[in-house]
Formats: sequence, C-alpha cells, structure tokens
Amino acid sequence: MNEKKLIPLAPILVESTRSIGYTFESALADIIDNSLSVNATIIEVEYGSKAANAYLCVVDNGAGMDKEELRAAMRYGSRSSLEARNSVDLGRFGLGMKTATMSQCRELTVVSKKDGKLSAAVWDLDYVIERSDWVIKEFSEAEINNLGIPALEGLKKFDSGTLVMWRKFDKLERSAKDFNGSFLDKVNSARDHVALVFHRYISGDGFSVPIKIYFNREPVAARDPFLTAHPGTQPLEERTIRIDESEILVKPYILPYISKINEKHLSYLGQKEDLKKNQGFYLYRNKRLIVWGTWFGLHRQYELEKLTRIRVDIPSELDSLWSIDIKKSTAILPDKIKKNLIEIIANSVPKSKSELTYKGRKTSNSGIKTAWYEVENRGTFQYKISRDTALFKLVESHIDGSGLKYMEAFLRDLEDQLPYIPVYKNIAESKVYDETPQISEDEILLLAESNIEMLVSSGFSESDAVAMISNEYTYSRYPSVIAALKERLK
Ligand SMILES: Nc1ncnc2c1ncn2[C@@H]1O[C@H](COP(=O)(O)OP(=O)(O)OP(=O)(O)O)[C@@H](O)[C@H]1O
Ligand SMILES: [Mg+2]
Repeated sequence: MNEKKLIPLAPILVESTRSIGYTFESALADIIDNSLSVNATIIEVEYGSKAANAYLCVVDNGAGMDKEELRAAMRYGSRSSLEARNSVDLGRFGLGMKTATMSQCRELTVVSKKDGKLSAAVWDLDYVIERSDWVIKEFSEAEINNLGIPALEGLKKFDSGTLVMWRKFDKLERSAKDFNGSFLDKVNSARDHVALVFHRYISGDGFSVPIKIYFNREPVAARDPFLTAHPGTQPLEERTIRIDESEILVKPYILPYISKINEKHLSYLGQKEDLKKNQGFYLYRNKRLIVWGTWFGLHRQYELEKLTRIRVDIPSELDSLWSIDIKKSTAILPDKIKKNLIEIIANSVPKSKSELTYKGRKTSNSGIKTAWYEVENRGTFQYKISRDTALFKLVESHIDGSGLKYMEAFLRDLEDQLPYIPVYKNIAESKVYDETPQISEDEILLLAESNIEMLVSSGFSESDAVAMISNEYTYSRYPSVIAALKERLK
C-alpha cells in the first residue's frame, strides 16, 4: 500500500463552497450568530452601497480573538461539528464565517480586539487563486489602520470585540441592473430577517441583557412572530419532551384574529396573504429561530388553521438528531418525537379554527341569540335566518297573513343567495370585514322599545323583556342602549 496525501485545490474548493445555498440574509445571520456565541451585547452592522466600494461590516463587543485564535478561526473547518459546544454557542461546523461570506463576496476581512491589541486576517479569493493555495493575509497593528476599513473606529471603542467585513460583491455586480438599489434591497430584507430570527435576543427574552443590533446606527426592533405581548394572542400550555438528558420545549400559540391587529403588528406576522403558509412550527435552536412555517409533513396547512403557531425550543446538543445544516436554515424532524408533536397539533389546531369560525349558531357559546344559524346535513351546510329573534318577532307582529307569506319567500331567497364563495375568498385572503353596526343608536332604541312593548303585551314582565332583548346579538352590540333601558326599569 502507498499512502498519498491529497490536499484539496484551494481555488476550486473555495469556489465550490460559494454555492451551498446561502441567501444574503441567511449569510449575514450566520455572522451575527458568531457574535452572539461570544456574548456580544452590541452588534453594529454598517454598510455602504457604492458599487466598487460596497462593503458590509459586522462589529461586535464580544470576547474578541488574539492573533492565534484569529488564525484558527480563519481556517476552513476551524472546529469539529462533533465537539460539544456551550449552550450559548450558535456555531457547529467551524465553517460559517468563511462559507457565508464567500457565498456573497470575494473578500473576508476579520479584525479582532483582545487585551487591547488588534489582529487582522483576510481571505481574499483572488489572492487564493493567484497563489493557488490555502493562504490568508495577516496584518500588523500599524497596517490595519491603512486597510481602509470603514467601521474600524467602531471596533476600537469597545474593550474587546470583532469586526467582520465583506467586500467585492462579484455575484451581485454581475447580476444586478442597478447595483446600489439591489444592494440596499438585500440589506433591507436582511434587516427584517435579523429582526425575526433574533427576536428573542433583541427583546431580552430569558437573557440577562437585551441584545442591541443596529443597521447603520438605526436600532433593529424585535419581530415577534407570536405577538406574545398582544392581549389577543392565546398562549396554550407548554409541554416538555425529554430526549436522553436534553429537553425540547413546545408551546403553541393562537394568534389574534386579523381585525384585532394593527398594521405594525401585522407586519411582524408576515404579509396577511401569507398567514396560511406561515402557520406551523417555529423551531428555535438556542433561542435563535432557524425554521418556521412548516408542519414537518405531520399536518396540512389549512386556511382555517392559519392562526396556529407552535414554538419549539431545541438545545444545540440535539443538532445531529435534527440534521441541522451548515446554513442553520433547515432541520429534519426526528422520528423519536413525531408522536408527541402530532398530539400537540391535535390539541392546539382546533382552537385556531374556533377563533375563525363565523358567529353562525342560533345561540352562540355565550347564549346570545344571533340572526343567522348554521344547518348541517350529511356533510353539507347552509346558513339560515333565525325566525326566533325578538326583532324578527316584532316584524312578524306587524304583518298580516299574505304579507307573511311573501316575507317567508323573501327570507328563503336571501338564504339561497348568501354569497358563500366571495365571502370565503375574502376571508382566505385575510381581508377584514366591516363590523360596524348599520343601525343607528336612535333607531335601535326605538326598535327596542317597540320590542319590549310587544313582549310585555304577550305576557312578559318589563324586566324579563329587557333581559330577553339584551340577550340578542342585534341589541347586545349597543351596550349604551341596553344600559339606558335597564336604568329606566329602576
Ligand atoms: N465575532 C466573533 N468573535 C469571536 N470569535 C469569533 C467570531 N466569529 C467567529 N469566531 C471564531 O471563529 C470560529 C469559526 O467561526 P465559524 O463561523 O467559521 O464557525 P463556527 O461558528 O464555529 O461554526 P459554524 O460553521 O456552525 O458557524 C468560531 O468558532 C469562533 O471561535
Ligand atoms: Mg459560525
């Protein structure tokens, strides 16, 4: 046997790692992962979009690296994915910083500050090609100041920290019609992505201090996809699934109905039209959102269940079980916990449905009588107008024999013409329907008085009559009118 060492050809291997499928936003999030893994509390993203000089820097106040540590960090495969990591470490493969950067540009510069000293190293793809070898450039402290790094002062102001800079955006230069505009578009969607995937860091959920992230000095606000602080969101019971020594926490939420959410909050949930496809599991690894809007094939995405989102917290020690990929943007559900999750879906999804279903019973859950009710007959359903409400009875009492016949025909015609399909379509598109009552308060007061009079003449006491009509949806929507009627009783 002959042993032969085969070292990969640097330009070829680096070039091929550029295509492992990072998007601009997932690549930037990977750089921010590194900052959070070394306990940074301030992360400043700075960028300039002028074509040949475009740059993007991520500066953090984390632990920083000395010269040797930086050299190790620059190596492709700096740490093994089999090595155990501490619970704040968001890394796994020892590749992210290099592959994420090179997926977007040709030059990675890292400057780090530790014990008051600066170290810098650069992966420059053109230099790798020129030397046809795995070579980085290293710079002395004096040289660093002449590298023309826009955010260097930002790093210097911290006691320790790291600056990662991307330059030479060759792919975008080739593909964009308007480089400046496309670059800014990418940075903007990356900001939204960062606001979402790190929302628990930004809002300080379970951390000793909230993490501050800035984009060109503008602070990024957390985008909580559960609107946990919204009074309309219903948190359901949290469950713990134990696997060996580790715990997976599962907590379902039912989002508030769309008409109860303002524009700003709605934008946190994604577009209204996308609510259906954003339902499902939201998987967090060490509190960082990695995958969302999927049922992992355990369930289908139904329109009526679009308000269900289930938070799943996994610790990084279960990475291999979930087949977390290098980009930390895909995961595969382990068989071991399928059964538990199916059960949780079955318990939470019907709650979302009931939030969405129409007030369509003769009496709703609260015992209030409504004008429409649902009739189900062997799998088909229809909505009918109730002939049992006080207002209907009042009308009836003013119509004679042949008039009643016409009215009955008219009501059936109305029932037959209920526009099911357009209503369904609008609701499906999350259009909000106008819930303002169409009868004025003055009119409703007159109607209520006549209604009470009618009930009294058919033998009810006045207080019973008032109680009866306040139990009708028609009148219950006018609390001030009901209050006035009750006041009169006294
Ligand atoms: N901002 C930073 N501050 C301090 N150290 C850093 C920073 N960024 C990277 N490092 C060091 O460089 C190493 C390599 O980073 P890299 O992102 O390439 O791999 P990783 O984070 O270990 O794993 P992954 O491939 O999953 O991202 C890290 O393990 C860390 O030690
Ligand atoms: Mg990393």
